[in-house]
Amino acid sequence: MVIFLKVKGRCLTTHVTSTLQETEPMGRYEEYADIDWNNLGYGLIKTDYIYKAKCTLNNTFEQGQVCDYGNIELSPGAGVLNYGQGIFEGTKAFRGEDGRILLFRPDQNAIRMQIGAERMCMQSPSVQQFVDAVKQTAIANKRWIPPPGKGSLYIRPLLIGTGPTLGVSPAPEYTFLVYASPVGNYFKAGTGPLNLYVNNEFHRATRGGAGCVKSITNYAPVLKAITGAKEQGFSDVVFLDSVHKKYIEEASCSNIFLVKGNVISTPATVGTILEGITRKSIIDIARDLGYKVEERLIALDELMEADEVFTTGTAVSVATVGSVTFNAQRIEYKTAGELVSQKLYKTLVGIQVGKIKNKYDWAVEIK
Ligand code: COI
Repeated sequence: MVIFLKVKGRCLTTHVTSTLQETEPMGRYEEYADIDWNNLGYGLIKTDYIYKAKCTLNNTFEQGQVCDYGNIELSPGAGVLNYGQGIFEGTKAFRGEDGRILLFRPDQNAIRMQIGAERMCMQSPSVQQFVDAVKQTAIANKRWIPPPGKGSLYIRPLLIGTGPTLGVSPAPEYTFLVYASPVGNYFKAGTGPLNLYVNNEFHRATRGGAGCVKSITNYAPVLKAITGAKEQGFSDVVFLDSVHKKYIEEASCSNIFLVKGNVISTPATVGTILEGITRKSIIDIARDLGYKVEERLIALDELMEADEVFTTGTAVSVATVGSVTFNAQRIEYKTAGELVSQKLYKTLVGIQVGKIKNKYDWAVEIK
């Protein structure tokens, strides 16, 4: 059990075995926060607590603290502000119908953050510190974890260069933060099929770049493509490879899959595609369900000839695609009847909320 002791406006975390002691004004430990749980979207809802830990260059991270949620102060010269030295993760806490609180494969996010930090010349927390931080943040914000079936608590671990650096060099100090927000469906249209637009003008990543890591610098450059597509009524964008402008890579914040017969295919992760944790979980689930899964180069033409298309990600979960448009050509896919994407979605969510016990023990109960 975790107790939060209020000390000069900060909260120190202590692990104890006795019952929870109330040290905050009443309300912080009520079962649910007072919000409209039936209409959760994907906006940031401030919760009660944030986890913070710092590290100076060539040092290890200090023990982190769970603090009151609020703004953070940064030097104007911070590496993250000037040179984009920042990476993040996304994971979710779910409330099962049996009342358990479950995280989905947080160790995988920890490992991915370490790989990303190495690529971006940043210090990173250990896998254990990362996982503990995610657990502490979820438990501290427990009243913000939606009731079963209403959504999840999206947890955002963020690693940023907070030390000042005027020349282009790694920042002398790093801060690891974990905050959270209750979320519902990522797309405004809810769980309805997505209409994707293939953008051949802007590219998300290049060979040798940082497309495979969850760098904050991967997102601002695609805002123009996403905004343009949304203005035309599309849900999201599919990016093509920047060399041949022919092979599909991923959508703006999710990996893409196509189904043809009994074969499911997805672009291989060759450095330009994010190594999605939902992506690799879906590959394992699909194989366990008897599908053949291929990771390889996929030309746009092949996407246009698929039976079904879907995207995967922590935020989007498994999202069925209804159409893909390239130039003036719009292709529609099967979205009714028995869908492979829905079978995979139900299995994934079943594992995440503890209804389906999977052989890998991906759901981690926290208390
Ligand atoms: C996630 O799925 O965790 C993401 O990173 C998506 C986010 C960029 C909205």
